[in-house]
Amino acid sequence: MRVLLIGSGGREHALAVALNRDPSLTELHVAPGNPGIEEVALCHGINIDDNVEVLRLAKELQIDLVVVGPEKPLVNGLTDLLRASGIACFGPSKAAAELEGSKDFAKKVMSDAGVPTAKSFTCANRQEVEAALDSFGAPYVVKHDGLAAGKGVVVTDDREIAIAHALQSDRVVIEEFLDGPEVSLFGISDGIHVIPMQPAQDFKRAYDGDLGPNTGGMGAYSPLPWAPDDLVEQTLREVLNPTIQEMAARGTPFVGLLYAGLALTNKGTKVIEFNARFGDPETQVLLPRLNTPLADLLFRAATGKLNSQEELEWSEKSAVTVVLASSGYPAAPITGEPILGIAPIDQSFVYHAGTTRRDGILHSSGGRVLSVTGLGEDLTEARDRAYRTISAITLRDSHYRSDIALNAAIAEKGN
Ligand code: AMP
Ligand code: GLY
Repeated sequence: MRVLLIGSGGREHALAVALNRDPSLTELHVAPGNPGIEEVALCHGINIDDNVEVLRLAKELQIDLVVVGPEKPLVNGLTDLLRASGIACFGPSKAAAELEGSKDFAKKVMSDAGVPTAKSFTCANRQEVEAALDSFGAPYVVKHDGLAAGKGVVVTDDREIAIAHALQSDRVVIEEFLDGPEVSLFGISDGIHVIPMQPAQDFKRAYDGDLGPNTGGMGAYSPLPWAPDDLVEQTLREVLNPTIQEMAARGTPFVGLLYAGLALTNKGTKVIEFNARFGDPETQVLLPRLNTPLADLLFRAATGKLNSQEELEWSEKSAVTVVLASSGYPAAPITGEPILGIAPIDQSFVYHAGTTRRDGILHSSGGRVLSVTGLGEDLTEARDRAYRTISAITLRDSHYRSDIALNAAIAEKGN
């Protein structure tokens, strides 16, 4: 099978490594890729926001399956064009990607499907904003309706900050605050069936102790030793299946990865958000543990054949991923600095995201630069490997959280 993977982040690097492990894969192409991905696949420096350019490349390379990493090409309708030309795609249509592209749309689908989520109001002016904020009270949760690369959501006790954030966008969703641990659970769907992956936990805030601004994700771990035994089964029943059924009933089936961001509240599991693609950095923590061949799995999803797919097989190991971020990330990342000391120890992996090679030397080129995953018999060992590898890397004024999976590792040891 010839696969073309779209994207250039740590998520795509982890996808590329996992796809390569599938014996049914004959060629792996990535557009545009990055210096890390270049070590495991053939990269093509095209503009992935130009659907026609991607189609031309897929045809030229006689691609059997296109796997789309980031949300933007999905919301831009890339898979609609590719599918119309007979190319199998793992990734939803433009209409189905609205589950991520519009918070308001996602709320409507959840409401129609009976999926538990925070109560919310969609507001278009100051009066509506203030009324919604006051009806829920603090902490206030304000979300810009459209795609915002992790920067569209503000959670604050300060009413003025909440109003100011709301007024930056034409349309916002204001919702009830959900209290409880967060879990990311991915479902792979062919439009009708859903195969759940294992749950992971993402650390959204920039600094240790969950302080600082929201980011795209500073680290993750999996599995979750503390999670209820029936979490996957329950989420499949109450969230993933009804959402997939609702999308199919609307005539816009969702083919691809449905990412459910969940809060485990004392009133049950509720959806915080949907994404229409693999999470970053959850993908870097999940895929090193996946034993099921990935290219075949995604091809079956892309071609409506998940009914014959068996449950996924996972390694018993634990995994921890830590993100190395540039100085100033997330507000104003400083880039263009040399990166030295990448030398993964045994059972650890370094995935590239914001890197570029200049004069043969690796430099930073984005806010999230690298993600490092460690595997181990338990979370403590996985953390140890991830942190040993990341602490050997030098990048001026870079930062990473030192507490990824720490509490879970301590609790696991205590049991
Ligand atoms: P989102 O982009 O919707 O995932 O939101 C980013 C982050 O904001 C989430 O991971 C949560 O930590 C937080 N958040 C979003 N919605 C809520 C909510 N209703 N209650 C509490 N925290 C939330
Ligand atoms: N880990 C958060 C995201 O992928 O959106």
